[in-house]
Amino acid sequence: MTKLKIGICGWGNVATGLYEQLICGNELYSEWELVCIGARRDNPRCNPGNTKIVRDIFAVPDEDIDVLVELIGGVETARELILKALNAGKHVVTANKAVIYEHGEELIEVAITNNVKILFESAVCAGTPVVKMLSNDLGANKISKVAGMLNGTTNFILSNMEEGANYENVLQEAQEKGYAEPDPSLDVNGTDAAHKIGILASLAFNSGLPASKFHIEGIEDITSQDFKYAHEFNLTVKHLAVAQLQDHGIELRSHPVMLSKESSLAGLKGVRNGIQINTDLLGEFQVAGSGAGRESTASGLISDLIALSKNQDIDPMRYPDFSKKPSIIDFNELSFKYYVYLEVKDESGVLALISKIFAEHKISFDKVIQKDQLDNGNVPMVIFTDPVIESEMQIALKDLKSNSVIHNSKIIRIEDS
Ligand SMILES: NC(=O)c1ccc[n+]([C@@H]2O[C@H](COP(=O)([O-])OP(=O)(O)OC[C@H]3O[C@@H](n4cnc5c(N)ncnc54)[C@H](OP(=O)(O)O)[C@@H]3O)[C@@H](O)[C@H]2O)c1
Repeated sequence: MTKLKIGICGWGNVATGLYEQLICGNELYSEWELVCIGARRDNPRCNPGNTKIVRDIFAVPDEDIDVLVELIGGVETARELILKALNAGKHVVTANKAVIYEHGEELIEVAITNNVKILFESAVCAGTPVVKMLSNDLGANKISKVAGMLNGTTNFILSNMEEGANYENVLQEAQEKGYAEPDPSLDVNGTDAAHKIGILASLAFNSGLPASKFHIEGIEDITSQDFKYAHEFNLTVKHLAVAQLQDHGIELRSHPVMLSKESSLAGLKGVRNGIQINTDLLGEFQVAGSGAGRESTASGLISDLIALSKNQDIDPMRYPDFSKKPSIIDFNELSFKYYVYLEVKDESGVLALISKIFAEHKISFDKVIQKDQLDNGNVPMVIFTDPVIESEMQIALKDLKSNSVIHNSKIIRIEDS
């Protein structure tokens, strides 16, 4: 271990968690020195002892440090701070997935130009190791798919809905327990998971940061009824982020799916994150663990600091080669099996109408189930289709919705796993 002089920027949840580990932690890092903390105000949860406090975070790169740990979150101020540190010849460690997703390509290029490193293990799944594993440990493998449940809040909400809870109540519980952000929209609308799979896709497939095209949907429209109907076919509902190599490019998507209850990802409950990776040499394997929290995130941050301090001559991580960016396949060209939920008027001929519209778009059914009448007099119909191209399904849905007998419609794609 070489001596490492560290400056932390931000003094919130993750920064104080890191501080506690650095101060009380392992003698492995007794060689390190915490030079200063960039904190615009005190945090009543944590006493920084004699550590120097710098009120202007932009003055931290000017301190006598080797590495700046960026823990302020957000995008544009974090970008400016990281750029200042890299241009001042300081390494950067960050847990900030948003800034790596939005500006990763620029930040990595500036790091390379300045002969320093930017490391971001805890930007995806906090301390559960996946970033350096993809970039370093799987170097001998050709990766064909990375798919994961990458947002703990979403998984907590869906796992509880599976047990019968309703969306609003369980979202409130996630906020009370500190799993969800005070504004949880990036969690539940699929963006946070998209940022994370975007970062993993850059490591697995050299795709850009930011990625050029992405299909993103959240879990806001999922209801407990969907779980009930899924259960009848041994399926459940999860939010999945997927990067998959195809002959003509890669697919990048972050949306709810139905998957078999027997699959390993379906078994992950609560705030846990899980990733499945398919490679040529190792085959399919999974990594699962805590994807949030101050201790878990400190674990990932410290693994980056260890990588930096081990041997300055060995690259701690292999960066994507952005000159080899693959094309991103248009989501509309992808093919899925679908769960289609319709609420229809209770009158004769409706099933024949639905069958006709689907037949016009060459969509065949695997199963059709008519459910008991709702209080409003409508009848729910659940259809499981055979594989069909997304664009065809969207046109068929539009045609269905243009009929006055169809009152409500929704699709969830079915993921083979
Ligand atoms: N929480 C987790 O479990 C987790 C897991 C993995 C990754 N992360 C990432 O870790 C980062 C930090 O998260 P967190 O949970 O620690 O957030 P947090 O508790 O909100 O802390 C953010 C800290 O940064 C400071 N800050 C924000 N903007 C600033 C600015 N413009 N100038 C100076 N200080 C500024 C805040 O100061 P004020 O208090 O004065 O606003 C606060 O001290 C984020 O990028 C997050 O995505 C978090």
